[in-house]
Amino acid sequence: MRILVTGGAGFIGSHIVDAYINAGHEVSVIDNLSTGNKNNLNPKAKFYQADIREDISVLIKEINPEVINHHAAQIDVRVSVSNPAFDAGANIIGTLNVIEAGVKNRLKKFIFASTGGAIYGEQDYFPADEIHPTRPLSPYGVAKLACEKYLYYYKHNFGLDYIALRYANVYGPRQNPFGEAGVIAIFTHKLIRGEQPLINGDGLQSRDYVYVGDVVKANVKALGTEFTGELNIATGVETSVNELFSNISRVSGKNITASHGPAKKGEQQRSCLSYEKAKSVFGWEPAVSVAGGIKNTVEWFLKNPR
Ligand SMILES: NC(=O)c1ccc[n+]([C@@H]2O[C@H](COP(=O)([O-])OP(=O)(O)OC[C@H]3O[C@@H](n4cnc5c(N)ncnc54)[C@H](O)[C@@H]3O)[C@@H](O)[C@H]2O)c1
Repeated sequence: MRILVTGGAGFIGSHIVDAYINAGHEVSVIDNLSTGNKNNLNPKAKFYQADIREDISVLIKEINPEVINHHAAQIDVRVSVSNPAFDAGANIIGTLNVIEAGVKNRLKKFIFASTGGAIYGEQDYFPADEIHPTRPLSPYGVAKLACEKYLYYYKHNFGLDYIALRYANVYGPRQNPFGEAGVIAIFTHKLIRGEQPLINGDGLQSRDYVYVGDVVKANVKALGTEFTGELNIATGVETSVNELFSNISRVSGKNITASHGPAKKGEQQRSCLSYEKAKSVFGWEPAVSVAGGIKNTVEWFLKNPR
């Protein structure tokens, strides 16, 4: 299959590129390298440095993909809060540019990196399934939800099949430890250097952490299914920031005691998603526990110092 992966030089996108290439697909990547890195790029992928906020229709015509896997995005929730228009530029207009160019080029399927935590907002029940009310509390979540609605529109008016994968908190090798997002990468990076990471507030806030290898498997399964719609990709397990800290410090062999800073105003307290629908639609379920995933992540950061 000819597949275009946008954001394929980033954390999740680059792992998906590797898996698609290993499965024998012909893969192209569009990325502007704003947070992505050329070192992540699989040498067998054809790379186009381009920005999805611009007109990319000529590029997409040249690539002529049967499937677009769209991972390019502005990923920082706090940036979206301080500059909603900037966030919408990449996450709404950029996504529309990719979909429109694809549809004009007879695209068959669109796989979209959506979000569970940011779309559901404060949950009424745990774990949240896909029919849980969507009440995003950040422009980032609003933009991701808007893109899901656009995809519904393109399905019904142009017959474009799509899968929106609503990820929980994804972590693993290659995640950027220098941003605001990605607490496991941030803690791992600091702890293996013997630095003190700061836990925001009491550390009891919990999230659903899904390992990047499991996320990749969902993206592989997404190629072969007839299903169109939204699927949570998660573990259904809640882990607190305090638990993460002690787990990572134990695995990295550093005896550093936790240090707490002020709580972040407006931070969501709990998030946890059900993956039952993904299991019944295409037999996906997470295989890697948080303990196993942290071990892999720490080993990778030790081998790839930054
Ligand atoms: N990491 C998570 O926990 C998580 C959770 C839910 C959803 N997602 C989504 O998964 C996708 C990948 O996230 P990630 O964690 O790998 O982040 P990432 O920052 O590593 O990947 C994003 C990639 O998109 C590229 N990019 C950004 N803006 C672009 C633009 N305007 N034009 C072209 N390329 C651009 C970046 O250079 C980067 O390579 C994003 O859509 C994100 O919203 C991530």
